[in-house]
Amino acid sequence: MKKRWRTILLVLIALVVLCSFVHPFGNVKAVRSDAALLQGAEVPPAVMSTVQRSCIDCHSEQTKWPWYSHVAPMSWLVESDVSEGRKNWNMSHWNEMTADERQDKLSGIATMVHNRKMPLPQYLFIHRNAKLSDADVDLLYQWARTERKRMKASDTQAASGPSCLRRP
Ligand code: HEC
Repeated sequence: MKKRWRTILLVLIALVVLCSFVHPFGNVKAVRSDAALLQGAEVPPAVMSTVQRSCIDCHSEQTKWPWYSHVAPMSWLVESDVSEGRKNWNMSHWNEMTADERQDKLSGIATMVHNRKMPLPQYLFIHRNAKLSDADVDLLYQWARTERKRMKASDTQAASGPSCLRRP
């Protein structure tokens, strides 16, 4: 009887180890970049430190991978969130998006934080310090709106040519 339990345990351990090498959502851990976040955007230091605290793990290629993110089946849940997160908004590639895409994303950020949809609840359950206070929500919300307005203003300026040639 004892021997049978030991066999079951060994098989389980072998399964976990083997499954940890399987990446159903792509090998997101292999993608890393030291590129500055949100390149090209005007980001006050307080905003940068807030997104670094609360958003960076899923929305950039500077993810910190905790030990359990290497062990199946947890690894699959974490990799799925990071893969989806990066697809939706990747701060490591901000400057590669078109101006329209960036403005859309800024609206998305404002909505997501305002409605408290981000960071995801399963992430907050473990990363307590990533929780946004009311002041943090306001900070990110106002920043996303201001940055969007700034982009829009510089867009119209660029479209209408140098100011000396513009009609009054
Ligand atoms: C645990 C991972 C995780 C964290 C942390 C996280 N997100 Fe997300 N985010 C996702 C996933 C997954 C999606 C795509 C699925 C969805 O929309 O729920 C997403 C989608 C988004 C989108 C796209 C929606 C759109 O309209 O374009 C925005 C914007 C966003 N997140 C902002 C944030 C902000 C801001 C933070 C930090 C305050 C944050 N997220 C933290 C995982 C995360």
